[in-house]
Amino acid sequence: MDLIVAVYSHWGIGKNGTQPVVVPEDRRHFREITGKSTVIVGDRTVKDFPGGKPLKGRRNIIMSIDPDYTCEGAEVAHSVDEAMALIGENEQVFVIGGASIYRLLLPKCKRAYLTILYTEPECDVWFPNLDEMENWHIEDMGALHEHDGIKYCFMTYINSEVER
Ligand SMILES: NC(=O)c1ccc[n+]([C@@H]2O[C@H](COP(=O)([O-])OP(=O)(O)OC[C@H]3O[C@@H](n4cnc5c(N)ncnc54)[C@H](OP(=O)(O)O)[C@@H]3O)[C@@H](O)[C@H]2O)c1
Repeated sequence: MDLIVAVYSHWGIGKNGTQPVVVPEDRRHFREITGKSTVIVGDRTVKDFPGGKPLKGRRNIIMSIDPDYTCEGAEVAHSVDEAMALIGENEQVFVIGGASIYRLLLPKCKRAYLTILYTEPECDVWFPNLDEMENWHIEDMGALHEHDGIKYCFMTYINSEVER
């Protein structure tokens, strides 16, 4: 299992249920990396998707505490164990947020695909600072790009505590 996230340089990732600053190239990158893989996502993040609907063309597993939560076109898991039980052994899975779901599943992820946006908008949700975690190391650091004055780069971190 891997994760993908866009983080600002202070490790903020969202404000008022959405991403305050986005660059279009990051959306493209997200589609390229996640392809047709299964995604695990929190119910609050789904509300921010176009039409509040799950991502098209792929298996969506939505995590929610609400026992009555349903969403057309998606499966629902009410705990980490339930989510894990839904996943096949060789299934390529990406955790795609939001903040609470990243926190819950971070220890199970082998790779973290980060888009670092070098800007610091006001945020109310945060991603753990991987640079302060002993088991996470930078595997790959992409070139610096710029969009509308915002510098950004794509980075991959790897978790030495997870087998694959
Ligand atoms: N920058 C990025 O790449 C990126 C990507 C995705 C999302 N985001 C941002 O992240 C924010 C949303 O994050 P969020 O943390 O508010 O919500 P979320 O992670 O999308 O959804 C969390 C949901 O999961 C539930 N939950 C918590 N623990 C659980 C468990 N053990 N089992 C099952 N369900 C569980 C939560 O219930 P409770 O309410 O009871 O805790 C909540 O309903 C938004 O601002 C969004 O834009 C940013």
